[in-house]
Amino acid sequence: MTAKKTLIKGGRIVTAVDDYHADILIEGEQITLIGKELDQAQLQADKVIDAKGKLVIPGGIDAHTHMDMPFGGTTSADDFETGTRAAAFGGTTTIVDFAIQTKGDSVFNALDTWHAKAQGKACIDYGFHMIVTDMPRENTKDLIKLIDKEGISSFKLFMAYPGVLLSDDATIYRTMKVSGENGGLVCMHAENGIVINEIIQDFLEKGHTAPKFHAITRPTKAEQEGVNRAIALSEMAESPVYIVHLSCNDALQRVQEARDAGLPAYAETCPQYLFLDDSYYEGPGFEGAKYVMTPALRNKSNQEKLWSGLKMNDLQVISTDHCPFCFKDQKELGIDDFTKIPNGGPGVENRMSLVFNGGVVQKRISLNKFVEITSTNPARIFGLFPKKGTIAVGSDADIVIFNPDKKFTISAKNHHMRVDYNCYEGFDVQGAAETVMSRGQVIIEDGQHVGKVGYGSYQKRSTVNLKMGTPTSCKPESALVR
Ligand code: URP
Ligand code: ZN
Ligand code: ZN
Repeated sequence: MTAKKTLIKGGRIVTAVDDYHADILIEGEQITLIGKELDQAQLQADKVIDAKGKLVIPGGIDAHTHMDMPFGGTTSADDFETGTRAAAFGGTTTIVDFAIQTKGDSVFNALDTWHAKAQGKACIDYGFHMIVTDMPRENTKDLIKLIDKEGISSFKLFMAYPGVLLSDDATIYRTMKVSGENGGLVCMHAENGIVINEIIQDFLEKGHTAPKFHAITRPTKAEQEGVNRAIALSEMAESPVYIVHLSCNDALQRVQEARDAGLPAYAETCPQYLFLDDSYYEGPGFEGAKYVMTPALRNKSNQEKLWSGLKMNDLQVISTDHCPFCFKDQKELGIDDFTKIPNGGPGVENRMSLVFNGGVVQKRISLNKFVEITSTNPARIFGLFPKKGTIAVGSDADIVIFNPDKKFTISAKNHHMRVDYNCYEGFDVQGAAETVMSRGQVIIEDGQHVGKVGYGSYQKRSTVNLKMGTPTSCKPESALVR
């Protein structure tokens, strides 16, 4: 049987580096031809998608999600079916989620558990980072096996959440060293959780239990110290490091200094730190709990600094840290004590539109940069490029027909995430995914999910030499005059 052929006609193809009008032929799962005025009859295409007036961009890659994650005494509200379907509606065609090693248990058991969670449920492609909680010297060969055999080339470690996920510096250093020697990357939750816990105790003893104390007890300096230490440890281990969910200028400055010194330090930020701020904790009643996430929302003055970090390539990625908990019943676990509010918020569905609107429409970043930080860089950094993250002959046909003019209002009333609120409720945005293809199959069309549950396939990720010479390690020329 010959592979199904789809022709996308008349669109404006935008990648991290290109911007031109052309047609795309897809055969089976991949792009096989890009050219001007491709002819349906001549190419015997079964289906034509009219993309006139639309952007044709590589599917979004969200490199930081937590579907079906046990955390904070409950489990994140989206599983791999509901979360990946919602992601697809928003124009994201690949996620990299996290398998979690239980302390004392093998990383391979963790991987089996997460494969079982995703298998048969995911609507888009997915990979896993491994959350390492425990890595004695005799087990470091497991990291190498994960990299070489299982397609897990990145590991998240925590300086936060003492007694739950926190790793000591020896474990972090050891994991960095072994992963760095073998082409892996350590992703760091960089916040000094030990000191944060002391601050929390001080506030609880004074009877401060409301959601806003989540932010007050997690100062930006705790994140700055974490980032500083993560970079120093990675320098000692001679390995690259990737700071996850960077939220503030104090932390960003440390990444900038490291990159200016030529160190292989990388970082992501998230929409919540670009569009929300700590005033959201002042909402009536228990409303502030909706924004209890870690790091906490920061003072608004940080937002333009983060945008400038993206522009200058000190931040390379925007991912969501999608970790939704329903306000009712889940966030309410902490109604009498902010430390019992499960940490995390939803966002996987809204990332592309929020970043397009706040970035491109509001003229903070170019269209190419939009594609770079939402798709190409996550693919490059996490070993998915050029299979994913671009529009090129031979790449997977993960393609979004994006309407740059479409305006809509974000709301829990119309979102597809399985959570009873939206952090961006009432935000008017311009720019939306209209038709979404995953490996050549249309999965979103006319506002409907037309793909199959379970269609998403596990992506073994390759290693990337992030130590030097990758496009993501280059500074733009304008950075020289910072
Ligand atoms: O609040 C958050 N970020 N929850 C998810 C876990 C993490 O630290 O990424
Ligand atoms: Zn984290
Ligand atoms: Zn996270």
